Amino acid sequence: MPDVRLPGSSRWLHLGFALAGLLLALPALAATKQARPFHDDEADAPYKVWNSTPAITMPPLLLDVSDTSVVVEWMTDSAADGSVRYGEHALDRTAVAVHDGLRDVGTFHRVVIDGLRPGHTYQYQVASRRVVALKPYWPERGNTVQGETLRFTTLDAARPTARFAVITDTHEKVSRIHTLLGEIRKMPEDFVAHLGDTVNWAASEQQLKDVFLAPTAEGLGGTVPLLYVHGNHEYRGPFARELGPYLHAQDGRYDYARDDGPLHLIAVDTGEDKPDDTNVYAGLNDLRDYRREGLARFGAALADARTRSAPFTVVLGHQPDWGWTGGDNAKWTQLANRAHVDLFIAGHEHHFMHIKPGERGNDFPILVVGLDQVAWVEANGTALKVRVTDSTGKLVDAFTLARKRK
Ligand SMILES: [Fe+2]
Repeated sequence: MPDVRLPGSSRWLHLGFALAGLLLALPALAATKQARPFHDDEADAPYKVWNSTPAITMPPLLLDVSDTSVVVEWMTDSAADGSVRYGEHALDRTAVAVHDGLRDVGTFHRVVIDGLRPGHTYQYQVASRRVVALKPYWPERGNTVQGETLRFTTLDAARPTARFAVITDTHEKVSRIHTLLGEIRKMPEDFVAHLGDTVNWAASEQQLKDVFLAPTAEGLGGTVPLLYVHGNHEYRGPFARELGPYLHAQDGRYDYARDDGPLHLIAVDTGEDKPDDTNVYAGLNDLRDYRREGLARFGAALADARTRSAPFTVVLGHQPDWGWTGGDNAKWTQLANRAHVDLFIAGHEHHFMHIKPGERGNDFPILVVGLDQVAWVEANGTALKVRVTDSTGKLVDAFTLARKRK
């Protein structure tokens, strides 16, 4: 630029304009650089890939393991899709979160891996691709975040032994979850069962994540699966109707059956603890038919051939009296008696109870796990051993059940 030909004052004026222009341009340049689509993991993608990478804000939680499948859940800070690479010897297979032909896009990710072999250990790695704008054509993507490679083992009805730990009623107390799961992680458990009342009432996704999902995922380290049982407190609050996608078993329900070595496990949903017409529910609870259906499903699960062939049948439920059933409580006990159930493990009472056979019309012991307690269950073909400890490891109760004739 021929500045030297200008009079002195004009020259400085020109320089001043040039500097001001440059200063004005700087933020624009910076903004352009930040917002520029950045081709990272998909350098040749024909669509926009922004330089924006999701952060994993909840590490993987393994839920509802069976002998051939498992659910993997995790969360990201921004909208993304979800996939899991997995395999026995290499990450050579992929499962994705998809509904009706479209990849799920959000901050919560849930992927079901199935077609697995019983009793086999698999490595897996979660991945989420940032989705910046869901336009009808040319949606805009971002970068991909990957979790660390972790391992899980499927259940196996054919193995000779099984062991699992039970906690319950953590009621939003994160330190309780960390302490109890810290103890449990010292032992090689097949899975951990949580018998419900994870929240005082369900408020939001953020609350569920903060007080239950994330601390549980951290405590279980992405390697020990969780079997979740529905508590009465999860029936309450503005987010109660939205809990299914986070907590349901694979078939979209809260009751299910699983087999692990000598154990036939039946998880039941014991619903609310008060009748539908109790004023505090303002006419918005309608559990009567749901509980009747639950009773029929409990009967069907107990009628399964595995109830006779498995050395032990263990029922997992939240309320030890089956909750409010509309008057059918004795029918639940009768069904369990008729099927020769060996043990019912429950929570809800917040204190330890060992209800012996005969005390409530029950032919089987009912173990009520208290707050800050762990029940440790171990079974082989002839004996079912149970220990209950408090959060310091002090023994609260221990008993052994022998295999019954069925
Ligand atoms: Fe409860």
